[in-house]
Amino acid sequence: MEDIAKQQQNQISQVEENNSAEKKVQNTDQDNHQSDDDEDSSKKEVSEKDKMIYQKLDDFYNDYYLTDFQKFAVAKFLRENVAVGKPSVTRIREWLMNKLNGVNKPADCPAQQRGCPEVIPGLRAYPFWDSENLPWIQKIQDNYEIIKQELLSLRNQKGFQPYRGPSWTSDIKAKDGVGRKSNDSGDWNVFYLFLHNIKFEENCKKVPKTIEIIENIFPRHYHHAFFSAVTPGTHIMKHHGPTNKKLRFHMPILGVKNSRLRAGDITLNQEEGKCYVFDDSFEHEAWHDGDETRIVLIIDIWHPDLSSEEVKFLSLLQNAKMRAEKIISEQDAANDNFYKIIEMSKDLLDSNDWWTNNNKETLQQFESQKSEEKNTISS
Ligand SMILES: [Fe+2]
Repeated sequence: MEDIAKQQQNQISQVEENNSAEKKVQNTDQDNHQSDDDEDSSKKEVSEKDKMIYQKLDDFYNDYYLTDFQKFAVAKFLRENVAVGKPSVTRIREWLMNKLNGVNKPADCPAQQRGCPEVIPGLRAYPFWDSENLPWIQKIQDNYEIIKQELLSLRNQKGFQPYRGPSWTSDIKAKDGVGRKSNDSGDWNVFYLFLHNIKFEENCKKVPKTIEIIENIFPRHYHHAFFSAVTPGTHIMKHHGPTNKKLRFHMPILGVKNSRLRAGDITLNQEEGKCYVFDDSFEHEAWHDGDETRIVLIIDIWHPDLSSEEVKFLSLLQNAKMRAEKIISEQDAANDNFYKIIEMSKDLLDSNDWWTNNNKETLQQFESQKSEEKNTISS
């Protein structure tokens, strides 16, 4: 640990020096005439080091497909915040140093989180979060009935589609040939609202109150939100989310009986209307052994430990990467990317009534409530 800390500190100093590195290279050239052999070799060494840091930073910029303007903004942020050691960007500083040093995971990363491709150091890591520490959860829970009614109003409307991913997400090829499945039994369908920098406008228009709740009550939502529906007998295979910089909120809405979710070593039995937050960077999997289709509203939020500066910085990187990946995906002849697969699976469901076929009791309640409302209005 001490070695890593020492190594990181050295790298930070090198980033600090980085801004003047070009100057140093120029000065080294001018000074060559006056220097003796030893000085020459020492300056050459410094210059090589600077070049190496430049190269690493360049690789980092390229990983995120940054434009020149974005590179400028990122370099400014690093110079004004990271290099001077501002406490509000501690996590970014450590994460970046790890990246530049080729360290993939923080040393104290919990075993169940190690399979996650991106782990930012210094963020609290619990498989499930205590709702007591997240007071806004109650506010969302208070809106459960409103969200449920909007979900039920989607019956017979277009919008749900099978959940599919590119080839790297699973070994199970979908029978219809569109992408891979993450469930090895049952069916998993979704009604997207926000994902990968896309707002699904048509879907959002169908559930305006839910969108209002997401945008106004959630603290720093991550622009990932969707209704997730699994049929009886579904098993979603164990996997890790892509990053620990976000947490995942669940509101179980329909058909929840005998549905459970494991994250890390903890398994939770879901209850209708009882919201919770879990960290999907931990290994997790889900089972639905109930008799009705189970529907959960899923919304991602930025990790509460990240400062607003860190969220701003990480958003810049993420948006740049997603914009570039979307453009690249358009040229992908194999269609092996999220954007194409989401588009191709849009119209795969034969009927838009399938997801409530089993939920007879709930539907009856919904219909009678609707007719009561009608009576009230008309009388
Ligand atoms: Fe997941």
